[in-house]
Amino acid sequence: MVDVGRHPNIELLTMSEVVEVKGYVGSFEVTLRKHPKYVTEDCTFCGECLERCNVFTEDDFNENRALRKAIYTPFLQSVPRQYVIDDKVCIHFSEEACQKCVEDCKKHAIDFSQVVEEETVHVGAIIGATGIRPYDPTGLYGYGDSRFPDVITSMELERMMSPEGPTKGEVVRPSTGQTPGSVAFIQCVGSRSEKEGQLSYCSKLCCPNTVKNTLLLKERFPELEIFVFHNGIRTSGNRQEKIFLEARRERVVFVNSFPEITQGHALTFSDPMLDHDRLMKKQFDLVVLAVGVVPTAVELSGFLSVPLGKRGFVKEDNQLSPTSTPTKGVYFAGAVGSPADIKQCIEQAGSAAMQVSKHFHRDTAELSPVIAKVNIEECTGCGKCSKQCLFGAIRIEDKVASITEAVCRGCGNCVNSCEFDAISISNYAEKQMKAQLRAALHQPEEKIIVFACHWCSYAGADFAGTSRLQYSTNARIIKTMCSCGVTVDLIKYAFALGAPKVIVSGCHPGDCHYLDNNMFTKKRVTKLKEGLMSKGINPERLMLEWVSASEGQRFVEVVQKMEQLRVDEDEIEMTKMIFSETSKRKSRKRVRK
Ligand code: FES
Repeated sequence: MVDVGRHPNIELLTMSEVVEVKGYVGSFEVTLRKHPKYVTEDCTFCGECLERCNVFTEDDFNENRALRKAIYTPFLQSVPRQYVIDDKVCIHFSEEACQKCVEDCKKHAIDFSQVVEEETVHVGAIIGATGIRPYDPTGLYGYGDSRFPDVITSMELERMMSPEGPTKGEVVRPSTGQTPGSVAFIQCVGSRSEKEGQLSYCSKLCCPNTVKNTLLLKERFPELEIFVFHNGIRTSGNRQEKIFLEARRERVVFVNSFPEITQGHALTFSDPMLDHDRLMKKQFDLVVLAVGVVPTAVELSGFLSVPLGKRGFVKEDNQLSPTSTPTKGVYFAGAVGSPADIKQCIEQAGSAAMQVSKHFHRDTAELSPVIAKVNIEECTGCGKCSKQCLFGAIRIEDKVASITEAVCRGCGNCVNSCEFDAISISNYAEKQMKAQLRAALHQPEEKIIVFACHWCSYAGADFAGTSRLQYSTNARIIKTMCSCGVTVDLIKYAFALGAPKVIVSGCHPGDCHYLDNNMFTKKRVTKLKEGLMSKGINPERLMLEWVSASEGQRFVEVVQKMEQLRVDEDEIEMTKMIFSETSKRKSRKRVRK
């Protein structure tokens, strides 16, 4: 932190929050709200004001287990090294209009005239690193429900063990102030549980943190009795495993059980190593709840238009670029993307910094030529494409859709949402795709049209080719950027031209290079198959398969499977008729408009 504060190229803005972010990669406009500190940079941190102030409030940094004054420093190592006044507590802002700190400050650094200010800064790239917060176990009845004073959280123990903490580093029972003779740690509190209000995922930090704390406690109190109740200890990596083994050598008892805290800090549990069905009861002086971690990315996702996963963490763009978000120029580091330990946070910060530096070493940004284009003659400004775009690349201006080219990824999902054919992907326009279909189906007998996404399935087909794997010569491959760019109209057009069979293929779920856009593909194809069935057409003539770049063999199997499907001539003719009519109706509709 001190290095950051001193670095000539880093401007550290404390007591500031982001209000709005506009723009795109290379040209972001960030509006900040700066809250007043009421102390100027002239503060020398001499402490005179602190001596004089006698207004106290709970210290949230110390988990409300200590008091701090109205003028304070958030924590001892905070940067910049100066005091700040808490205007919610300071009585200068009440009727008393106290001026004691002003009177004692020889540097005249107290300035009550400061107000909230807004400032706009221009930046080329953004890294989100807002971290996580601990899960609040209040309300978990089986874990004490805040009824027992000597049941504390892992964060409270951390503060207690710190020399600057509420007990100056002494580990004590909050109820008596005395050193405990026995301590129980309960793991996975609020995490790895499907129960309502709890977190389904592993916090990743609690096991190593607990093991570390047991060793620190054993170092200070070798005779202390320590039990760790866990749901399977997760200590991966050389260092963590080493300290786990060390803790066992120090006679820390690990019990694979979910205990319940009853009156008087008695823990009821069963030990599967001894007897699964026998309930045991044991009294402990201090119980530490190793709580889970909660993401803090909700606001960040709103400002930066980055999507969140189901668990509330920022979604990475794709697995090969783990600190990139789907919004170009926006990266993330640390636990904002998933629970992470310090080592991982540092690695990610380095990776995100490298990603940003890519933008700095040249004056211009390279854009992909494959992006969406709007035909303003046809666009009605309905806004459906804008809602469909997960990257926030389309906005409606003057009743017409407008594409921010630096943001558009060219996946083609928007094309599906436009019923007026007013939006298309350059190089993959409907006209071009249809021309390919006409060429492929010049003699449609036995042909298999395979729509393959650029990133996985097309590469899979390529791999099959370079591996000299044999598959049906009837297959005709048509490349799209993402499977979501295969429009329902295109599939119908293929059938209208007499295609006996159509395969839509894309990346496996979770591997799509455009967030989870292949799930839109799944929905569309499933609906279309239902439509085929309702018209008396065999739905198996349309197949959806996931093929990755390394699955050349799988690509062959998919094509061969389709090859085996028998489709009689009458059905092909009937399908042709049905879908030719649909296409004609659509063109008539367009002409009427
Ligand atoms: Fe392959 Fe989306 S990129 S399915």
